[in-house]
Amino acid sequence: MIDETLTMIPGPTPVHPRILDALARPTVSHVAPVFVEAFKSALADFKKLCQSSLGQPFIVAGSGTLAMEMALVNSVAPGEPILVVSQGYFGDRWGDLAAAFGIPCDVLRAEWGRAVPAGEVAARLASKTYSAVTVTHVDTSTGTCAPVEAYAGLLKGREELFILDGVCATGGVDEPCDSWGVDILLTGAQKAIAAPPGLALCLFSPRAMEKRKSRSSVPAYYADILRWLPIMEDPSRYFATPPVNEIVSLAEALRLLHSEGLPARFARHRRLASAVRAGLTALGLEYVTEESSRADTLSVLRYPEGVVDLAFRKEAASRGVVFAGGLGPIAGKAFRFGHMGNIGTGEVARALTVIEESLRAAGISIVPGTALAAAAPFHSA
Ligand SMILES: Cc1ncc(COP(=O)(O)O)c(C=O)c1O
Repeated sequence: MIDETLTMIPGPTPVHPRILDALARPTVSHVAPVFVEAFKSALADFKKLCQSSLGQPFIVAGSGTLAMEMALVNSVAPGEPILVVSQGYFGDRWGDLAAAFGIPCDVLRAEWGRAVPAGEVAARLASKTYSAVTVTHVDTSTGTCAPVEAYAGLLKGREELFILDGVCATGGVDEPCDSWGVDILLTGAQKAIAAPPGLALCLFSPRAMEKRKSRSSVPAYYADILRWLPIMEDPSRYFATPPVNEIVSLAEALRLLHSEGLPARFARHRRLASAVRAGLTALGLEYVTEESSRADTLSVLRYPEGVVDLAFRKEAASRGVVFAGGLGPIAGKAFRFGHMGNIGTGEVARALTVIEESLRAAGISIVPGTALAAAAPFHSA
């Protein structure tokens, strides 16, 4: 699936024609039977993606940031402490959110490009009990994939609610919520699920639902899950008008995802990520992320000496592929290459070729075909 300009940023990601066709279908009433069926299908398939049999899914108009807010405001009361395990910009965002709702938080922060070792989390949990622990599965600012399974082992049987931000992971990296004991998984539609942007998705475990029900109110109206629960249980009911076209397209995206199957989808992301790593390393590019923590959904690379960020990305865009710039301390010093969702060998090969050509245009001497030659063994794997 190759379109005109290939957007290889860490979301939004390229949207499959089948999903665009669903998005473009005429807008129907939000209580029309055909829409109610699509909403039910999206909820069921999202829950299946989370590998959860007991969790309660929520899909509302918004973005990943709203899903973060829904997760926090419904599960932690003002004054209750949380522990934030941060591997970058989006991990740090929990601190801002907590401050906005009067929630004290301790932050375990890793150097950019590194993951917080499970041992540090264990030590912190040994010294203090929190109301919740927030973990960013893949931090899109650093390309760091957290050792979530190890953290899950530490949190098993403890009081803390386990909140997992899967915005840059869900749909591309395995997230067995029930077996990991995740209490709240949150994500957006526009990354590895590869639907158009505009939807916030959350899955609440029975324990997290109980926590919300134990509180008479929360400092939120639209983000209050108890206002949405009747709609998620019966989408023909009303609280606020759902984004009809987006939900119909999400339903199609989740159908496509499950037709591939989770093990195959995660294996494809692993294979493509290996091809990308081989290609970029052969070009002499240095990863921002330590080798053991590199995510399968994106790569974050430092520029070689003399390569100017805007000029490089402009050159790449003129060749038809769009990459993202760095955030925070690596802005202007690195670029981010998203490789997730409904993409394959063709898109990765095109992106690698354009990176090689754009580096050559910036004066870096590279033998033509270097990246593809290094990536080839992974494409045929
Ligand atoms: C890990 C992570 N969390 C949260 C967000 C916020 O999501 P959104 O931009 O959809 O509000 C992002 C966005 O890139 C993200 O990568």
